[in-house]
Amino acid sequence: MTEKSRNLGASPIREDAIAKLRGDTRFLGDLRPEGILYACQVNSPLSHARILSMDYRQARELEGVVCVLGAEDVPGENRVGVIIDDQALFAEEKVRFRGECMAIVAAESEEIARKAAGLVRFQLEELPGVFDLDSAMASPEHPVHESGPIACHSRVRKGSVARGFADADEVIEEVFETGLQEHYYLETLACLVYPEEDGLLVTGSLQCPFYVQKAVARSSALPLEKVRVVQTPTGGAFGGKEDVPNELCARTALLAQATGRPVRLLLDREEDILTSSKRHPFRIHARLGATRDGQLTAFEIFQDAESGAYATLSPPVIYRAAMQGAGPYRIPHVHVESRAWYTNQVPNGAFRGFGSPQVCFAHERMMDLMAEKLGMSPVELRRRNLLRKGDETATAHVLSESVGALETLEQAAAALQENDPPSRRWLHGTGFASMIYGNCLGKAGWHMDGAAALLDLQEDGTLNCATGLTEFGQGARMVVLQMAAEALGLPLESFHLAPTDTALVRDSGPTVASRNVVMSGNAILDAAARLKERLRPLAAELLSCDELELRFEDGQVSSASKSISWEELSREGHRRGLELSVEGWWHVPELDFDLGEGKGEAYFAYSFATHCCRVAVDTLSGQVKVLGVWAAHDLGRVINRAGAEAQVEGGVAQGIGFALTEHFHRNEGEILSRNLSSYPLPLAVDIPDIQSLLIEDPHPEGPFGAKSLGEPTIIPTAAAIANAISDAIGEPVNKIPVRAEDLLELLKKAGHEENALS
Ligand code: MOS
Repeated sequence: MTEKSRNLGASPIREDAIAKLRGDTRFLGDLRPEGILYACQVNSPLSHARILSMDYRQARELEGVVCVLGAEDVPGENRVGVIIDDQALFAEEKVRFRGECMAIVAAESEEIARKAAGLVRFQLEELPGVFDLDSAMASPEHPVHESGPIACHSRVRKGSVARGFADADEVIEEVFETGLQEHYYLETLACLVYPEEDGLLVTGSLQCPFYVQKAVARSSALPLEKVRVVQTPTGGAFGGKEDVPNELCARTALLAQATGRPVRLLLDREEDILTSSKRHPFRIHARLGATRDGQLTAFEIFQDAESGAYATLSPPVIYRAAMQGAGPYRIPHVHVESRAWYTNQVPNGAFRGFGSPQVCFAHERMMDLMAEKLGMSPVELRRRNLLRKGDETATAHVLSESVGALETLEQAAAALQENDPPSRRWLHGTGFASMIYGNCLGKAGWHMDGAAALLDLQEDGTLNCATGLTEFGQGARMVVLQMAAEALGLPLESFHLAPTDTALVRDSGPTVASRNVVMSGNAILDAAARLKERLRPLAAELLSCDELELRFEDGQVSSASKSISWEELSREGHRRGLELSVEGWWHVPELDFDLGEGKGEAYFAYSFATHCCRVAVDTLSGQVKVLGVWAAHDLGRVINRAGAEAQVEGGVAQGIGFALTEHFHRNEGEILSRNLSSYPLPLAVDIPDIQSLLIEDPHPEGPFGAKSLGEPTIIPTAAAIANAISDAIGEPVNKIPVRAEDLLELLKKAGHEENALS
């Protein structure tokens, strides 16, 4: 199959590309159905306060205002927490962050809606706030929630770290910090809800239609079947549209339900940044032991993350951070304790990698620090410890297949080019970072880790398809179609893939954790197998052969001697009344994992990667230039080559932002970074040549062997950059994003300040 395949590893043009390039794609902001109302949220001006009263009279009286709703107007439950039930849809009694939604307005124009939102009167009694990790950990007397300061926690316990440290010749200990990161998807959060005969049609820019369906049903007191969610073309998400759309859609749905008119909520950039989730900042305290010859013996890690005012998606972030905290290494004794702490800040949530880039920064800095301590090269220390087939992970999961970790290191190391010309002012350095990424939801989310796909064969041989996972810019739809085409031996043009619609496909879980290709791919392969099963007896009869002889290739179904076109077979199947519409389903296999101990099969498969970065540090200004990135990824199997390379390039660019340019500023509970001038994303000039090295070590459970790629592409970048800067200046960089003023301090400490002057 491999040699003949026209589909696998090819780079067909995405079906959505032309419309997007021409500007023909209709995003939510382009939609203005007849009778539309515009919504605007009323957001808390204080970070922590008791709500004494709310008064909607003035807002309701304004000409053009149709509806104003608050906590007391919710027909169902005024709740929205996706995992932990700690959050109200509209604040009641208390507000816990500046920007928290207290009410929502619908009006005939956006301008009136905004004006009316400003006319909602309320009395607040300000309470002392908890604004950062330090105060969250130190001040139990001002808890954000009565349940206590910790939103959630996870742990890993393998062996005994005390014994592991006793076995070590060298033990190092260090503290690392990572900053907030804003998703900055190009399309801001938006939804449009239509009232229907006896239910609601919810459309929006979102990742997880099935989450939205449940959230809307819960607050509008409708059964799930009366809430239909259809995703509109979505201009980027990166995790930022995982759970946040639940709240926006649920509030907007209440307005549509109350007014009987379609209602649109479209956040502007500032409101989007002020009210929606960010990447969790982490502080990580790590202790690592190794023998003189570089065998790791013990890794003890304490991770503390800022959850913000509500838990939202902290549980999966903390679970993943703990499971992957010790990296892709063979270590006999591992102890990880990971916690998320409540503060009076906008909740931190899902962001590409779910905690992984943060913990990778820590374990990869530790590897470099240990290498230095042992007088060994960073590549050699990794080489001696990276997981191989047959090894067990940090959670004691024995890996028997698809462990391309070492190959990623060797390929990145071999590809590295250090031909940048040296100068006195610019110090150059090289850094490596490796990572492990558990595919899909893992044990903590196993109950949701199934996905469906539909194939509906038309009379003329074309197929309508649908999957339960979503496209939000990553290019997954084309990858899934390529797999369907490969399985049935048909050209891509035979398939039409519908927008994701909860009325079409059953609950396939959230589109997160880089699971689309793996889950939808397996589901569509299952559907294709079922469809072939239904057609086989007919084809065998028409070709007078045994069913086992049949091959599905090049738009034909053939026996050893004869063939019939797929179209003819489809027509005959329809004439005979065969059932030629099938549903495929795939669920992640059982995982043997002890959640209490944090030990066992944390995920069903793992992706591996090593990034190598070359940087130049300006001793005059403290600025860092990334000169080159060599990014090696074990993704099991390449399905769409251009798509895979684009993922690597996008992930690396976002990693460069996380490491260097994206400084997110707050003053207590007030967000100061509100646009691109106060929150600089990396620009084209900041992105060097990026070489994608795609390694195919197929996993038996992956579709055609494929594993997750989307999130792994950002995970090691910042760590590799920090290692490269540390290498360049000879002083450790243990905090990101890297500030020029901190680098200048470090350069002074290393005695490099005179370089700048010569
Ligand atoms: Mo993504 S962080 O898995 O929504």
